[in-house]
Amino acid sequence: VTREVDFLLTGAGQLVTCDPGLGEGPLGLVDGGVVAAAGGTVVYAGPRAGLPDLEVAAGAVRLDAGGRAVLPGFVDAHTHLVFAGDRADEFAARLRGTGYEESLAAGGGIHRTVRETRAASDAELEAGAAGRLARAARHGTTTLEAKSGYGLTVEDERRSLEVLARLAARSPVELVPTFLGAHLVPAEYADDRAAYLDLLEREMLPACAPLAEFVDAFCDRGALTVQESRRVLKAGARHGLKGKLHANELGSTGGAAVAAEFGCVSADHLLFCDQREARALAGAGTVAVLLPGTSFLLRTGRAAPVQVLREAGVTMALGTDCNPGTCYCESMQLVIALACVHGGLTPEEAVLAATGGAAAALGRAGRAGRLGPGAACDLVVLEGRSYLDLAYHLGVNLAAAVVKGGTVIAGEGAPAEVGT
Ligand code: NIG
Ligand code: FE
Repeated sequence: VTREVDFLLTGAGQLVTCDPGLGEGPLGLVDGGVVAAAGGTVVYAGPRAGLPDLEVAAGAVRLDAGGRAVLPGFVDAHTHLVFAGDRADEFAARLRGTGYEESLAAGGGIHRTVRETRAASDAELEAGAAGRLARAARHGTTTLEAKSGYGLTVEDERRSLEVLARLAARSPVELVPTFLGAHLVPAEYADDRAAYLDLLEREMLPACAPLAEFVDAFCDRGALTVQESRRVLKAGARHGLKGKLHANELGSTGGAAVAAEFGCVSADHLLFCDQREARALAGAGTVAVLLPGTSFLLRTGRAAPVQVLREAGVTMALGTDCNPGTCYCESMQLVIALACVHGGLTPEEAVLAATGGAAAALGRAGRAGRLGPGAACDLVVLEGRSYLDLAYHLGVNLAAAVVKGGTVIAGEGAPAEVGT
């Protein structure tokens, strides 16, 4: 039987399938590759010679990669997309020596963004998030996790997730929403932290859980304790939310162990993680989401202990952590470069972490972050001959064309309203 396809990409000098079964090495590399898709799903990805007998539909999307490299669309496993205001002054103060935790303790930091987010209109919140999402897409991101967490009232947390739902309906990028009402105990509950968790459990979760897929908590020094984080994860699970946890970013505070104990889908940051914790994560199947943009910009001189994670066999993922405080960045390309030069990953590990690993961190392994039969036809045509350019050719946008579900959404051949 001849299958009809509505998408055909030819001329990939290097097709990076991120599926070792489909090509050479850990990235499953294929020389002279083609990708064919129908209805947004890949039906063939491999060498030209192996292309099955296919009928290309009239009006199909046809792309010629012209010898350039082609990769799966990037999956950004961790962002704080919805917020108002900016903290450029705080960033500058940090460069002059004021610590991140110092600003937070003084009522700045996350507290400040919470004030500005609460004061913003729905339209302002949506416009800000939409701009960031469009920039992410232009840099090759086709699936992106996004958290609430700057509202910290029932209404403002729900509003943040509603912004994401509206964006998801109109943006070609697939959004994965996470409820982070436990980003911090807001200032007005500083003297009665348990009362805030009561509110989160009794009112926020019922209002927000239908709009989210994951629940997350900032389990760290100056944020939530291990006990408080346990309570949030447990309550989230009762509402059908899978777990994620901001763990061990600022200190060795036990978050990684909690993530493993709850079988969280991911534990994020992990600047501090010992062998025992890494083994627990591996045993629980919890993915380590590394955020090298954040550790780089915090200038702590520390990155997540990759060798410990590697030895324990923990699956690694990458995210931008796009947020107004620690890392204002939408580019997974830059994150891949930083993962290599600052984070200690090999280029192959970094590319896998930004695709298949990140998809696993979002419960989408196999479907996103891979170019093979059954996967979403999400891809990036790279302005370069090899995936190595992502770490080597620094600081410019190398996404020549970005495809989501078989449609060009940015770069060459994109319709004007989503392109450029
Ligand atoms: O992942 N760690 C908690 N949340 C963010 C920072 C948020 C902020 O500073 O606004 C992070 O780094
Ligand atoms: Fe974060």
